[in-house]
Order: sequence, then C-alpha cells, then structure tokens
Amino acid sequence: MQKALRDLLVELQTWGRENDEREQDRPKKMLNLEPDTAHFISMLMRSSQRKAVLEIGTSNGYSTIWLAWAVSAAGGRVTSLDRNRDKHPLADANLRRAGLRDLVDLRVGDATELVGTLTGPFDAVFFDADRISAPAQLKLLLPKLLPGALILADNALSHPEEIAPYLAAIQAVPEVEHMIVPIGKGVSLAYLDNPVG
Ligand SMILES: C[S@@+](CC[C@H](N)C(=O)[O-])C[C@H]1O[C@@H](n2cnc3c(N)ncnc32)[C@H](O)[C@@H]1O
Repeated sequence: MQKALRDLLVELQTWGRENDEREQDRPKKMLNLEPDTAHFISMLMRSSQRKAVLEIGTSNGYSTIWLAWAVSAAGGRVTSLDRNRDKHPLADANLRRAGLRDLVDLRVGDATELVGTLTGPFDAVFFDADRISAPAQLKLLLPKLLPGALILADNALSHPEEIAPYLAAIQAVPEVEHMIVPIGKGVSLAYLDNPVG
C-alpha cells in the first residue's frame, strides 16, 4: 500500500476515534473497524484476489477504503450498504480522497431490503452493521455467493449475545468451514467450500 493511502487511513481512524469519544448520539458515531482488523480483512481479500465484495455497514467509508484497496489489484469492485443518509457524503468524500471511488457502489437504505435487490454474485461478504438482522441477510445472500466465497463478520467476541444467532446460522450451513479469529473485536471467518444447494 502506498504511503499516501496509509496516511489517509491513519488520519480517518484518528478522526473516527475522536469523533466517537465526543458524540453521545449513536448514529453520529463512526464505529470504524480497529486498524488490525481492517488490515487483516483487506490482506485476506487482496491475497485471494477477490473481485466482487459486498460490505454491509459503510459508515464513513473507513473499512470500505481498505476493501477497495484489496480488490483494486485484481480489477474488482465493492458494493457497500448503509442506512444512515448523513454518513453517505462522508463515505463518498473519503473514497474520493483515497482515489478509490470508481471501484465502489455505495447504496443507502436498509441492508435487508437492499440485499434482496442485489443480484451478485459475490465472492466475499463482510457484515459490519446490525448483528440482529444479519441472519436474515445471510439467508438472502447464500444463493448469490460464488463457490469459495469468504463470509466475514466483525464483533464475534465483543457482542456474543447479539451475534449468537448469526454464528448459529453460518455454522449451520453444511458447505461452510468456519472459525473465529481473535483479532480486534473478533472476526467470524467462513469459507464456502462448495456451491450452496
Ligand atoms: C459498525 S458501523 C460500520 C463501520 C464501518 N464498517 C467501518 O469500519 O468504517 C455500522 C454501520 O451500519 C449501519 N447499519 C446498522 N444497521 C443497519 C441496517 N439494518 N441497514 C443498513 N445499515 C445499517 C449503521 O448506520 C452504521 O453506519
């Protein structure tokens, strides 16, 4: 990664952390990934040449930049969803600053509704929005995933009760290899070993 992009990510991470310490209103918090988690996920995707990544939970685009950088080498694209209309211009501006805006399709709306409209196919999905609706989104997405798809979710260790239904749902998919990576807040990492069906 070029130094200018790494410097921008450090700047955004610092800005997000300071913003979240100041803001009491949850929708105004950025809730960005921890840098190690973002770095880990992007290396996983870049090294395996992912080309069609879906992110659920854009916020101001911090993780989206990491994902767009990850797919850039293989000529891939990222679709990223968030229901918060106020964060959309922030994500748009931050992706432009990163020089990666052309690689990202930003959609605003409820993730479950949007997921139903997407055709895919995706070779990676990253869940980082509300953990409660993630199982319903997973069910809609499974037929839209390519064999070998990666399915990741943050907060596997930080929010055990909220994420339990999602973990049960992903572990119940017979075609899936699953583990929890103890990095940051805990990443649920699943690999779709065969086509679902
Ligand atoms: C943890 S933040 C995402 C952080 C981002 N991935 C990053 O690291 O920069 C979660 C985001 O998901 C969005 N969100 C939560 N529930 C949602 C839903 N049901 N549909 C769409 N977006 C949702 C919130 O507006 C918030 O911006």
